[in-house]
Amino acid sequence: MNQEPRCSSASSSLELIELSDPSAVADHVAALLLNERRRRPELPLGLATGRTMDPIYLALARQLSLLPFAEGERLRERWLSFNLDEYVGLAADDPRSFRAAMMARLVLPLGLDPERVRLPDGSAADPDAEANRYRCELEAAGGVGLQVLGLGLNGHVGFNEPPCDVGVRCRCVNLSASTRAANAPAFGGNPEAVPARAITLGLREILAARSILLVVTGAAKAGVLRWILQGPATPELPASWLHRHRRVMVVADRAALGCGENG
Ligand code: GLP
Repeated sequence: MNQEPRCSSASSSLELIELSDPSAVADHVAALLLNERRRRPELPLGLATGRTMDPIYLALARQLSLLPFAEGERLRERWLSFNLDEYVGLAADDPRSFRAAMMARLVLPLGLDPERVRLPDGSAADPDAEANRYRCELEAAGGVGLQVLGLGLNGHVGFNEPPCDVGVRCRCVNLSASTRAANAPAFGGNPEAVPARAITLGLREILAARSILLVVTGAAKAGVLRWILQGPATPELPASWLHRHRRVMVVADRAALGCGENG
């Protein structure tokens, strides 16, 4: 880790860790993930996809490769993670699927057993039944230990689009126009090419995690992050429900916290 984090309590429930940039955030979060695997190996990690997460997986591969061989092997063998979400309607091997992203960014670089990196099957014939099956599979695994979340520009976590009640479960959802536009770069820049539906863990499974890390980088998220840190919890900002959890850490870079170059 190349930098001491600055910590403060943003509210009664959200602990804030401020770091200089996405690279410092990635190093910090990757170290927390490895620690979690050591400390609580019996419970799965909850993982996310997206641009915020990409440098974190790179840092994780780097940090894992620096561990003593036997310790690295033990962590690999005992790995278990559940992803938040997956598009509906893409083939499992479609390079634009979240499964393909996790293969390329996590499974192959870390040398993991793909069976131990779980995602919903977005190609299932009955996506509603698949959402239910995935929820049961996660419950049978004991629920998530540490849940990592990215933040959507509209305040979504996973694919829980606003407005979103705190009690929603793992289910099939329709994606908002703004989310399809935000995720269009992976689909040749065309929002219409982004699947219209997805399977996502709900707020209920997310808030059942023993602890939660909300990771936010970049100036584009500064506005929505400010609203979330301030509270109160509201269906209009799904991430604001994190105020209902007692162990949430927000890890953000200076740009996401609205600090300019000299701020
Ligand atoms: C996406 C995903 C989330 C992700 C979030 C932020 O649509 N469903 O799991 O964390 O939105 O994405 P990004 O990090 O690319 O901004």
